[in-house]
Amino acid sequence: MTRQACEAITPRQACEAITPFGRRAAAALALLALLSLPASAQGVHPVSGRRIAGVMGVAGANWLVRPERVAEENPEKAIRMLELKPGMIVADIGAGVGYYSLKLASAVGASGKVYATDIQPGMIERLRANLAREGVRNVEPVLSTPTTTGLPTASIDLMILVDVYHEFAEPQKMIAELRRSLKPDGRLVLFEFRKEDPAVPIREEHKMSVAEAKAELEADGLVLEKVLPDLPWQHMMFFRQRTSGK
Ligand SMILES: C[S@@+](CC[C@H](N)C(=O)[O-])C[C@H]1O[C@@H](n2cnc3c(N)ncnc32)[C@H](O)[C@@H]1O
Repeated sequence: MTRQACEAITPRQACEAITPFGRRAAAALALLALLSLPASAQGVHPVSGRRIAGVMGVAGANWLVRPERVAEENPEKAIRMLELKPGMIVADIGAGVGYYSLKLASAVGASGKVYATDIQPGMIERLRANLAREGVRNVEPVLSTPTTTGLPTASIDLMILVDVYHEFAEPQKMIAELRRSLKPDGRLVLFEFRKEDPAVPIREEHKMSVAEAKAELEADGLVLEKVLPDLPWQHMMFFRQRTSGK
């Protein structure tokens, strides 16, 4: 986060008073505070007691394409760790303006397809503009609802949720809906800011621990297969469908 960007969202004095790391942290904290819509009616997750975060509004869309994101999230490495193959059908759930959808599109190639869902028409509008600007044809934007995606049943090889799951207003209904569209051998991958790491400068309710994610999603019929903690601020948690008897 540059000094200029910091001052755009926090008081000038705050940017002067803090260290380079602290400045970035303050900016990230302030942005998420300013740009989130009110938290969901549900409030807390019934399994873990986790407080559900408010949805990041369209006013935060520019934050999703900040240049610092490359250093903070290493998206190219993240995409490599998904081990995508040409021809795969993937879904970017809560795609925002398509920061990851565009990278997925190039990884699965013209023979593959990316569904990019979001509940906010403003995000879908910006996503469409980005696809048109880049000439990308294998991404289908989908305006969804907080409990339904509109995706075809048992059709998705891999779905990613990047900084999204913690915002689900009705996480249990949404996981059931995502499982419906996932193929029996499909994978669902959560990217979440590491709650276990106090050095990750993101507001607490926008972070998740592995223990929280495992407790919540395993109660909803998924199984945690592996956790990759190698990204700068996030862990990637790979889930698969629970098969009977396992
Ligand atoms: C922090 S943004 C992340 C956007 C994108 N994944 C990225 O990393 O650039 C979270 C997005 O999730 C969307 N969202 C929240 N709840 C959702 C739901 N139930 N279904 C689909 N999208 C949802 C919000 O509208 C918002 O665009």
